Amino acid sequence: MFSKGQAGVYIHWPFCAAKCPYCDFNSHTREQIDEEAWALAYERALDHYVRLLPDMEVVSVFFGGGTPSLMKPQTVERIIKRIRGGWRTASDLEITLEANPTSVEAQKFRDFRTAGVNRVSLGIQALNDSDLKFLGREHDVREAMQAIAIASETFERYSFDLIYARPGQTPEMWANELRSALPLARGHLSLYQLTIERSTPFYMRHARGEFSIPDDVQGAELYTVTQEITGDAGIPMYEVSNHAAPGQECRHNMIYWNYADYIGVGPGAHGRYTLNGQKLATRDHSAPEIWLERVAAEGHGAHLPEAVDARAQLEEAIMVGLRLRDGIDIAGFMNRFGKSPAELFHAEHFRIAREEGWIAERGGRLGLTLEGVLRLDSLIKYLLSD
Ligand SMILES: C[S@@+](CC[C@H](N)C(=O)[O-])C[C@H]1O[C@@H](n2cnc3c(N)ncnc32)[C@H](O)[C@@H]1O
Ligand code: SF4
Repeated sequence: MFSKGQAGVYIHWPFCAAKCPYCDFNSHTREQIDEEAWALAYERALDHYVRLLPDMEVVSVFFGGGTPSLMKPQTVERIIKRIRGGWRTASDLEITLEANPTSVEAQKFRDFRTAGVNRVSLGIQALNDSDLKFLGREHDVREAMQAIAIASETFERYSFDLIYARPGQTPEMWANELRSALPLARGHLSLYQLTIERSTPFYMRHARGEFSIPDDVQGAELYTVTQEITGDAGIPMYEVSNHAAPGQECRHNMIYWNYADYIGVGPGAHGRYTLNGQKLATRDHSAPEIWLERVAAEGHGAHLPEAVDARAQLEEAIMVGLRLRDGIDIAGFMNRFGKSPAELFHAEHFRIAREEGWIAERGGRLGLTLEGVLRLDSLIKYLLSD
């Protein structure tokens, strides 16, 4: 899928206009942001990686957040210029920017395109106003529709996110909402089940019993409905929560799940890249101001990189690969790591998982079935246990 030396660049913009009560991403609100200082810091941190990995070929750039659509288009342009100036880039380089669908941001789409962005991913989250309010969003359905319309006029490719399994949402309600979303989509959708994360306002409110969300059985039903509807519409899941028409998969996502290399630049960003044959894991400082200071002092904002040993690489490659509908290419995996994925598994647990129909080999690939995906986290632990 990706050849040696090909890599992605992830840029993390850590600011949002307001904090959504369910979200535990590294995102912060600030009265004022010195954007010139931020632009310079991204440029410097990218220069660091250009020096470190001069032979890398960039196949994807992803601006994630936080809310990167709050950035000035000039800042985005400077970052893209630095990447294009520093490395070889693929002729079909995919440059995605996450955008919130408020009118202010949608008005900037054209300028983002001029800056070099060729794909946006919109955080629509819900298609009814009461749920948008519950989710603490800054936009309503009217604005969401407008943002999608502007995205579709401006970009050849775009995606949007919806969060389902909301309080009181029955499979029928979700099915109707999802069906109404399909005509708005162009080839890609991310559909996430609402999770209650520690350290978010929803965590306390949920613990106090202010609201409840669908339980595991209801969640499984909602997930199954999601697969049926998107499959029928020709945008089946290609990863646990991501759906695409054939060929419309998000390249940045595919880098993660195929365990290819990427660098991460920006507060809290992670990276996984190969240097002198050694896979390294990096994590940038999370606090925005500390990250800025580190870049000014050292030229990059990363903690000391950690070597990922051979066993950990195999496990990581399996954990991400099993998220893909098509699973892991067994021959490719053996070529790369000198072992088959099955050799990593607990033999008896693997046998049981196959018998139960949770994991199966299809056309030289090893992947989870729908029943397996419904048990994703516990199943992977079970398979990889000693
Ligand atoms: C980095 S976030 C957001 C991008 C953008 N700031 C926005 O909110 O539109 C990526 C996506 O993760 C999803 N997400 C975040 N927290 C979640 C949670 N607790 N449960 C389910 N989905 C979540 C949302 O759909 C969100 O759009
Ligand atoms: S969901 Fe998006 S807008 Fe809301 S706090 Fe998280 S990153 Fe910011």
